[in-house]
Amino acid sequence: MHRALLRQSRLRRPKFLTGLMKIGSISGVCGVPAACAVASRTYAPWHGGNKKGFSSSATRYADPNATSPVSSPPRVTDKIIIIPWQQSPASHYDHFWLRDHCRCPECYHQVTRQRLVNTFSIPETIKPSRVNAKPEGLEVIWEDDSHKSLYDWTWLHHHSYNPSLPQQEVTNLPATITWDAATIFEYPPAVQYKDVMDSDAGLVKWIENIEIFGFSFVEGVPVDLLKTEELARRISFIRETHYSKNMWDFTADLAHADTAYTDLALKAHTDTTYFTDPAGLQLFHLLEFEGKGGESLLVDGFHVAKQLKEKDPESYEALSTIPISAHSAGDPHVFVRPEPALFNILRHDPFTKELSQIRYNNDDRSTLSHLDQSHVHKFYKALRAWNSLLTAPENEYWVPLKPGKVVIFDNWRVLHGRAAFTGHRRLAGCYLGADDWRSRVRALRMGEDVKGLVV
Ligand SMILES: [Fe+2]
Ligand SMILES: [Zn+2]
Repeated sequence: MHRALLRQSRLRRPKFLTGLMKIGSISGVCGVPAACAVASRTYAPWHGGNKKGFSSSATRYADPNATSPVSSPPRVTDKIIIIPWQQSPASHYDHFWLRDHCRCPECYHQVTRQRLVNTFSIPETIKPSRVNAKPEGLEVIWEDDSHKSLYDWTWLHHHSYNPSLPQQEVTNLPATITWDAATIFEYPPAVQYKDVMDSDAGLVKWIENIEIFGFSFVEGVPVDLLKTEELARRISFIRETHYSKNMWDFTADLAHADTAYTDLALKAHTDTTYFTDPAGLQLFHLLEFEGKGGESLLVDGFHVAKQLKEKDPESYEALSTIPISAHSAGDPHVFVRPEPALFNILRHDPFTKELSQIRYNNDDRSTLSHLDQSHVHKFYKALRAWNSLLTAPENEYWVPLKPGKVVIFDNWRVLHGRAAFTGHRRLAGCYLGADDWRSRVRALRMGEDVKGLVV
């Protein structure tokens, strides 16, 4: 398995990981040192190793030691400025775009990072009167009012839109590692409760496990509801829903009209498909159990989707394009439906085209009353193919939860389920919002200077 993970992670290893600027290290995050080392947050200078020219701050304009990363002077046409980078294709910036994105204190608030410039007062045909390639950035003097803009080279490179240049070297997201049951069984990602609670480094390790593997255990957690809540709140505030204000803490008593509140088996699903913004993370802590069964099931939806794409691209396409809807309507005073009502089980990032979210709970699916006739057969065929991979034993990671061992997973990637059980089972848990956990890790990972660069 170790070798399998390594092979996979090497395939996914972005080129920038060989670079010079190291923001931090996460080796040993998850008990898979090699895999984690691959995800170490390192980025390369795009201009061929000239560290001096690689200012990472939009406000760090005046580095007296900086040297220019361009191979020749910028060219100016009627409409655009062309920057010939030393180490990547030349970028084209429209004059209006540049003026609108001036980052000087008059045009851009240096603390709030909000635009101050009045976009609508910029002449449509604005042009520079002078352009200078300075060591610290591109200086542009504008013809209409002699306003002087200075664009940090790194900021310009990062935001190049024609062509779009690789951005990962700055955002430093750990590489995702998809898994099957055998792979993850051997090296389940885990951190210690004490580490998470005691330091931000421990917290980052925990969240990075979620980014890389889609889930993580936390071991050594006090068997206590409030302590579990404190753990969840290390990441962000808890998402209040119609199930609960803070943590859920429930037994199979049908306190809510949902099968989660029974002792029935639950097939692999993601939660809250019926919310416009489905829950981002879900955390479980089994506080008490006297009985049989009830093992938890985790399935890496991104791994299963990859398999489906390879084996049956037509079905993958169908689940990515034929929309469905969902509802939560069991409780007497609850009738949740998403807005817009329709969504795809497999959602892709419109820019990168990468799979970004799985939203699937067959039990919560609403009546298919909006389907085009030609889609009915296609949809059910695709759903059957998806289900057969999702329930393939090699993809199902079964794990008995126990008091003291928390599991948290990315509800946009990892599907969860449960075996039927008998006896007394008290489970606590909560949801955290997708924006909230991502904001937390971004802010922890990026210093203020990098934050200033990427927005
Ligand atoms: Fe669930
Ligand atoms: Zn300005």
